[in-house]
Amino acid sequence: MKINYQETTSDLAVRIDIHNKFGGKDIDAWMLDLIKLQPGSKILDVGCGAGKQCFSYHDYLKGNADITGGDVSDDLLAQARGENEKRGTSIPFITLNFNKQFPFEDNLFDFTSCCFAIYYAEDVPFTISEMHRVLKPGGRLFTTGPMPQNKQLFYDVIREATNKPIPPMPGSSRFESEFLPVIRSLFSSAEVHIFENPLTFESAEPFVAYTRASLSEDRKIWTSLFEGKDDFENLMREIEKVAARRIEKEGKLVMTKVVGGFLATK
Ligand SMILES: C[S@@+](CC[C@H](N)C(=O)[O-])C[C@H]1O[C@@H](n2cnc3c(N)ncnc32)[C@H](O)[C@@H]1O
Repeated sequence: MKINYQETTSDLAVRIDIHNKFGGKDIDAWMLDLIKLQPGSKILDVGCGAGKQCFSYHDYLKGNADITGGDVSDDLLAQARGENEKRGTSIPFITLNFNKQFPFEDNLFDFTSCCFAIYYAEDVPFTISEMHRVLKPGGRLFTTGPMPQNKQLFYDVIREATNKPIPPMPGSSRFESEFLPVIRSLFSSAEVHIFENPLTFESAEPFVAYTRASLSEDRKIWTSLFEGKDDFENLMREIEKVAARRIEKEGKLVMTKVVGGFLATK
C-alpha cells in the first residue's frame, strides 16, 4: 500500500503542544511507566520525528543508555539535532526509512520503538520484521498508535461540517487490525495497553488549530473533502462554526484520544 504522507515540523509541534495544554494526562509518563527501560540499554526509536521519545528515554535513564533515533524527514531530523544542541546531548539522529531494510545488523538492540508512525508503513510484515530482526533475543518492541475509537468528536465535527464521509485514516483504521496480528505472529509474547486522554476545549480556537494541523498533515489523505488552499480555508471556517455551535450548546468540546500501546518480546 502506498501512503502519501508528509509531516511538517510545525504541524507536529502544534498537535503535541495542544495535547499537552488541553489533555489531562501525560502520555510520556504512561509510556515510561509501561516500558520500564533498563539502564545501559541499546535503544532504536523508529519514526522519531523531532526526537520526542528519544529525549524522554534519555531523561528517564539519566543519560545511561545508547539511544538512536531514525526518521525519513530531513526537516524533523534537523529539529531533533537542534534539540541535541540545546540540551547538550549527542543522540544520533539518522535517516531511516522503515519501508527499506534498516541499516543495522541482526540482534543488536534491547529495545525498539515506533510511536505514532508505524501505520504509515507500506508493507506491514516487512517493517515489523525489520524491527524484530534488529532486536536481541528477549529484546522488546513498543509501538503506539490510535485505536478505532480514537477522537470520535474530531471526526463528528468534520462530518457535520462537510456532510461527507471521513476517508479511512491510516492510523485508526490499521494500527490494531493490521499491526497487532503481525506482531503477535512474529514475537513470542505481546501485551496490549490502552491510554485514554480527554482533551477539553472551552473555545473553538484551539480545536480548529488542532484540526488545521491534522488535516494539513494528511492533506493527501483528506483530498476527498477539499480541493486546494481556498477550499481548505472554507472547510476550516465551517469546522469553526460547528465547533462554536457545539460549545454554545454543551459548554465545551471533549475530544478523547484513545491510544494503543503494543509491547512485545522477541
Ligand atoms: C506523527 S509523527 C511522530 C513522530 C514522533 N515519534 C513523535 O511522537 O513525536 C510520524 C513520524 O513518522 C515519520 N515517518 C513517516 N513515514 C516514515 C518512513 N517511511 N520511515 C521512517 N519514518 C517515517 C514521519 O516523518 C514523522 O516523523
